[in-house]
Amino acid sequence: MKINRKYGVRVPATTANIGSGFDTLGMALGLYNEAYFTPVNGLSLMESRIDVQGEGAGKIKSGIDNMILQAMQAVSKKIGKAVPGGELELINRIPLARGMGSSSAALVSGAYLANQLCGNVLNKHEILNIVTELEGHPDNVAPAMFGGFCLSVIKNKSVLMEQLKIPDTWKAVVAVPDFELRTEDARRVLPDTYSREDSVQNIGAVSFLMAAIMMRKGELLKAGLADRIHVPYRLPLISGAEEAMKNADKKGCYGVTISGSGPTIIAFSPKEKAYEIGVAMADGFKLHHVESKFMVLDFDQEGGQPIQLDNY
Ligand code: HSE
Repeated sequence: MKINRKYGVRVPATTANIGSGFDTLGMALGLYNEAYFTPVNGLSLMESRIDVQGEGAGKIKSGIDNMILQAMQAVSKKIGKAVPGGELELINRIPLARGMGSSSAALVSGAYLANQLCGNVLNKHEILNIVTELEGHPDNVAPAMFGGFCLSVIKNKSVLMEQLKIPDTWKAVVAVPDFELRTEDARRVLPDTYSREDSVQNIGAVSFLMAAIMMRKGELLKAGLADRIHVPYRLPLISGAEEAMKNADKKGCYGVTISGSGPTIIAFSPKEKAYEIGVAMADGFKLHHVESKFMVLDFDQEGGQPIQLDNY
């Protein structure tokens, strides 16, 4: 019996903004979703069947609202070749709607799967543009695809992107509260304009952030994360966040901020302090009656990758 070929991809979680780099900076984290797709004859793409294990099990549906299928459709349209429907199996480890790049991971997974199905016609930059258009901003998409620390900005409808390595002695400690915060709600609270003083402060902060990464100096991160564009407006939406951040600071992290649009809080730390920083952050949330789970993560330096499968 001939079994249809199965395609697989693994895509990392990401943390966007990194304090001062709103909508432009992001890092890839060592926590991965896996997606497998087996084409089925006679099924249209939007009729694909979905089996989800882990995060989102029982919640993620098939059809037009599914982000993996949306990205597959966008790639199929760009290439001009129909992609069939099939069986989509997801092993999800990235928490949903928590500021850890679950939507970018889904879109990148779909784009990579469709590109594989079509014979890898598109290059990574073309995929970056397609997925960024679906997501609206490139700061999670770029590290989900390329890994490491990514600088990205949209110029003339195309994404300009550079990638740097993250110092390998740094750890990411994420405290993930047990409630969701939708990005659109976290964007709605932001002002339309900023004062010159706030803008200058953010330019200074981004400069220190770049220096921290490039000179591998964790001690510069605190100045690098000091943000006036989004963090002050979003903290009130995240009960317990300020306490969690204060506790991380007390335990000696390099710096701490909101991960993406929240509600996860991320601290950067040397390895030996990471675990106790995580405990202290969870305690901070608890003071405000918010349950959270913390994870100590490495940074991912290579981004989304195809999973090699034995196909018979
Ligand atoms: N830069 C985005 C934001 C990341 O902060 O709204 C979340 O998708």
